[in-house]
Amino acid sequence: MNNLKSPFYLTLVLLMLMTDIFAAAGKSLEKANNDPQDIESLQSGARNFMNYCSGCHSAEYVRYDVIVSDLGLTDEEVKQYLMFNTQQTFDTINASMPQTDAAGWFGQAPPDLSLMARAKGTDYIYSFLKNFYIDPSSPTGVDNLILAGTSMPNVLWELQGHQFIVEEDGVSHLELGVVGKMSEKEFDIFLRDTANFLEYLSEPIRNARRALGIKVLMFLAFFLMLSYLLKKEIWKDVK
Ligand code: HEC
Repeated sequence: MNNLKSPFYLTLVLLMLMTDIFAAAGKSLEKANNDPQDIESLQSGARNFMNYCSGCHSAEYVRYDVIVSDLGLTDEEVKQYLMFNTQQTFDTINASMPQTDAAGWFGQAPPDLSLMARAKGTDYIYSFLKNFYIDPSSPTGVDNLILAGTSMPNVLWELQGHQFIVEEDGVSHLELGVVGKMSEKEFDIFLRDTANFLEYLSEPIRNARRALGIKVLMFLAFFLMLSYLLKKEIWKDVK
């Protein structure tokens, strides 16, 4: 126990507290409210990802066949709706765009998204995608409230429409100036499903792990009870 009081541990605890405080002091993120157990939402998210993200972003740690079984799809459905780049379901999800070209075009290669939800959280992804706004001075024509100066274009503008930044009393917020194909509510659901799929991607065995964890706990509880009863039985004559 003594070493718990050592300066090393103290510094560690302090650091952890500080990162929490700094994270909270940053841009306030909107809640994605996604549910990785909602298979229907994951299916839509997978479709969104393949149609709108996989052109630039890879998800190198995930194979199509894993998605097939986890999301309750057939091989045929996956080939038809999700696979545009590859022929085999055991392949990992690669971006259509070669990374070196992408780095040249965007100044920054689009990062692999396999672990993005774990690195930054779904609220971050949700808020990032929602907060693009028109900025004529930027090479992509847009900037982003959450990641200022980002080199990612607003790839969802057709769905969302165009947002403009409005300053009121020193506080800036975004307003929809040009309406997109989706209503605000539909677009929110689109983003929630996409973020949900990215959370699933970041740990595809999560649902299985949880289910197994519950079984293990039940098993342990059962044996705890059994050993308690045994102990009572064995010690009952010893007083
Ligand atoms: C036209 C290419 C392109 C498409 C399509 C695209 N992105 Fe990006 N994305 C980029 C680039 C380039 C970056 C690097 C931006 C930077 O670091 O400034 C990026 C960065 C990101 C980041 C990381 C932001 C950060 O904080 O570092 C996330 C998350 C992301 N994209 C999600 C998505 C999702 C989800 C989709 C699909 C809806 C998508 N992107 C579609 C090009 C693209």
